[in-house]
Parts: sequence; structure tokens; C-alpha cells
Amino acid sequence: MSAINAALDQIDQVAAQGDLTPDRHADLVELEALAEPILLPDGKRIYPPRLHGQPIDELACALLDMENPAESTFLRLTGPPGTGKSMLARAIALRLWQTRGREVQTRHGIAFYGFVEISGGPSSDEYLFRHEFVPAADDAGSVRLVDSAFVEAMREGWVVMIDEVNTIRDVALLSVNSCFDGRLSLYLPATGQTVTARPGFACLLAYNPGLIGGVATDIPDAWHSRFPATLEVTSNWPALIELGAARRLVGEAAALDRQRIAGEDGLCWTPQFRDIEALARMIDRVGERAALAFFVSNLLEQVQAGKLQDAEAAAACRMLDQAGYAHLKVSATGRVPSLHGYPRAVTS
Ligand SMILES: Nc1ncnc2c1ncn2[C@@H]1O[C@H](COP(=O)(O)OP(=O)(O)OP(=O)(O)O)[C@@H](O)[C@H]1O
Ligand SMILES: [Mg+2]
Repeated sequence: MSAINAALDQIDQVAAQGDLTPDRHADLVELEALAEPILLPDGKRIYPPRLHGQPIDELACALLDMENPAESTFLRLTGPPGTGKSMLARAIALRLWQTRGREVQTRHGIAFYGFVEISGGPSSDEYLFRHEFVPAADDAGSVRLVDSAFVEAMREGWVVMIDEVNTIRDVALLSVNSCFDGRLSLYLPATGQTVTARPGFACLLAYNPGLIGGVATDIPDAWHSRFPATLEVTSNWPALIELGAARRLVGEAAALDRQRIAGEDGLCWTPQFRDIEALARMIDRVGERAALAFFVSNLLEQVQAGKLQDAEAAAACRMLDQAGYAHLKVSATGRVPSLHGYPRAVTS
């Protein structure tokens, strides 16, 4: 068996070094598809993805009514981790801020453009959207009740993103149903006040509707109808090439991602923008051999934790083959611990 493996490896090596492995998908990533980048104040260049040809930040802004936020349709951004949902939300918020003629400010030591995030989890209760307890700086040992980021955004007329909304308990989400029904008003029991969203307020939801830790998650039905504009955010592969990642690697990641999007092969996860960006950066810094080892050890850990299926890890490794890294594979029966032929980052 090891002789067969060795022979197969040798064929792979010859193929990878020569031109037997055609550059199948690199050309499918068309750079012309790129929309004008948006420069975030932290220096990050964001290439907003397009929907049917139109830059999505333009569409998002068109759905929102900055004068009368109760008339807005708020976007739901869905997609696997690392596709660019948070980046897109930031780009939308910056565009809205600038359209309203506002300057980028400094708040809590960082650039601020009317964008705040709120995230909860399985232990969130009905107060998540209303209040927060923070340590009182001037009174050691005591805590103070303050507005939640959500209420702050309503009062000030900012954009609020509710991140990983499907991990938040229904009791918390359903407690703000009435807010999203009528005038965007929310009653705060602790102070007896009712706040109503000021002009400029907008809400974006971001989440991965797939499996989380092996458990299918979704938002309550009541929220599907309150947030009817659903945008399936996919990695902006041409942007990744523009930012300097290897065309062939990105092309293969894009091809595999298309299989996931088409619902083929039962793939819920394939490497996304963040994963490929990180791999490309590691390759630049430590070379292919070490970088790929880090990448596959990360894959293995996620398979063992039940976050990825073995078939997804196998598909990611096939992507590496197609991208021209098969010459780095080792025999499964050899001494080097490996995953689908790729050496893991195991120290000796
Ligand atoms: N369109 C894009 N242009 C430039 N960079 C991008 C783009 N999309 C994603 N990125 C890069 O990918 C990284 C991941 O994006 P982001 O954090 O927005 O993903 P996400 O979908 O919010 O992930 P998660 O579900 O884990 O929160 C960003 O840090 C950024 O470097
Ligand atoms: Mg995010």
C-alpha cells in the first residue's frame, strides 16, 4: 500500500511541478467585477460585493430611509464566517454617515462613523437590547446601569449591527418585536422611558444560518417577516486577488465555494475570504510548507470539535491540490502526521 501511495505522491509531485495540473479556475475570477473600494478610517480597503451587477452598499442605502427610519427595510446579511458581513456593514455605515454630511470622529480612542455592534448569546435575556451593567469607574465595587448599544443607536440615529443574531435566545429577540413593527419605539422598564429611533437609525443583522457546533440555528419566524431583505453574502474573491493573494489559490477557493453555494456535495462550509487571506499571508511570511501545515492543523481541530465535517476538510485539502500544493503531501503511512495527505503542524 505504501508503495502505491508513494507512486501516487510522485505522480502528484510531477503534476504539480509541471503543467499537468491545469490552472482550471483562476480565470473564472474576473477582476473587472470589482466595484470601487471604500476606504475605512482604519486604513482597510473594502470592495463591496455586487448584487446582480449593482454595488450592494448602494442598494442597502436605497432600502433605508434616513429621515424616517420606521419606513426603512433593514438588511439581513447571512453567510459563513469570514465572508465579509461585518466589513460590508461597516462600509454601508460609513457611506450613510458621509451621505449625511458627517465627519469621521474619534470615540473611545478609535474612528467613529455612527456604527455600533451588539452581540448576545444563549444566555442573553430580554434586557440585552435595553440595558447594560458596567463597572462604575468612580465607585469601586459598584455597577451602573447604562443604555445598551441598541438604545444608544436609536437615541443618536446611528447604524447598529446585531451580530450572530441566531445565537441569541428567542426571549431576547421576541422582546423587541413591537419595536420593529411600528414606530421603532422601545420601552425601557428600568427608567420608565420610551425611546423612539431618531433619523439616521438603521439596523443590520448578520449571522451564519448554517450549523453552529452541530446544531442548526435560525432566527424566530417573527424576525423573518420583520427583516424581509435577505442578502446571502459571499466572499468577494476578485477583491482578494486585488489585495495580493495568489490568483490560483483564490481561483480554486472560489470554485469550491461555488459548489457550496449551489448546495452540492452537502458542503455547508468551504474556506472563505478570511481563511484564504490568512493562508496567503502565512505563505508570504513563513513559506508554503509551514503555512499549509498551520492551515490543516486548524482544519483538523475544527473537525475534531465537530464544527466541520470530514468531507469539508477533505474538500479544502482537494482545493490545495488543485491550487498546486500537492507536491507538499506526504504518505499517509509515513511518520509525519497528516490530514488528507498534508503534513500537520506537529512539533518534534
Ligand atoms: N469585500 C472585501 N474587501 C476587502 N476585504 C474583505 C472583504 N470581505 C472580507 N474581507 C476581509 O475578510 C475578513 C473577514 O471579513 P468579516 O470579518 O467581515 O467577515 P464576517 O462575515 O463578518 O465573519 P464572521 O461571521 O466570522 O463575523 C476581514 O477582516 C477583511 O480583511
Ligand atoms: Mg462578523
